[in-house]
Amino acid sequence: MSFRLKMDRSLRQTGSNIVLALDPPSDEPRRLLSQSVDILNVVHPYLCAVKINRQLVLPVGLFNGVQEIVNLIHDLGLLAIMDCKINDVGYTNRAIAESYFEAGFDAVIANPFVGWDGGLQPVFQVAKEKGRGVILLVYMSHKGAREGYGQKVHTSMTGKPTSQYVVFAEKALSWNADGAVVGATFPEKIKEVHAILGDRVPIYSPGVGAQGGQIQSALVAGARYLIVGRSITLAEDPAETAKLVRDSARGYL
Ligand code: XMP
Repeated sequence: MSFRLKMDRSLRQTGSNIVLALDPPSDEPRRLLSQSVDILNVVHPYLCAVKINRQLVLPVGLFNGVQEIVNLIHDLGLLAIMDCKINDVGYTNRAIAESYFEAGFDAVIANPFVGWDGGLQPVFQVAKEKGRGVILLVYMSHKGAREGYGQKVHTSMTGKPTSQYVVFAEKALSWNADGAVVGATFPEKIKEVHAILGDRVPIYSPGVGAQGGQIQSALVAGARYLIVGRSITLAEDPAETAKLVRDSARGYL
């Protein structure tokens, strides 16, 4: 079963479209691991998946470090996404993806700026070989995203200026990506990207809460999954907050 379908099944089984961004604040590696386990143990009933960032992989390591968390995520019946924003030449991209898949991740996030040939093609190839997913950045959640993802570009296809993120949304379709990331902070961009992707490539939307994005506007615009980090992980009561976020989102599913 493809990652896209596994996410679909997870959403239906858990009744949640919340992907937790598990980014505990900097600390000593063992404590980072135990904090991550503690958060997961209380919030997992309100999630469909968990996203891990290099913020956690760098201090605790991958094998015998984050891999323990990935195993726990799977034991809790959830999927694990690695937010590594793969962004290099194909040879290293492939090795990076292989390592994360070897550690058990179900999908990786990659940056379409590097292109297909000698860029992301090997990542899609290895994901296909191992039955894992690739999610593409289409429009990031921070203000400066407009400098890259928002710039106008001339493409040979249209011959006229087109927004970079529109080109990336079209690549998500033609490369058969398992997801597209568009910031919840830009609901109008979500709407535009959703008009291109329809239900063929689901939109993952980070930036809810801490970065100012709203649950309702992101989902109404067409986001399928919400990626939520600090609003839950730094809350006084992470479980109660995760439940509130899950319940608020449920009405728009
Ligand atoms: P917060 O704490 O802001 O966490 O809720 C958000 C998480 O999502 C990541 N992030 C992104 N990941 N594309 C991505 O692939 C984006 O545009 C983007 N914006 C935020 C961020 O690193 C954190 O883990």
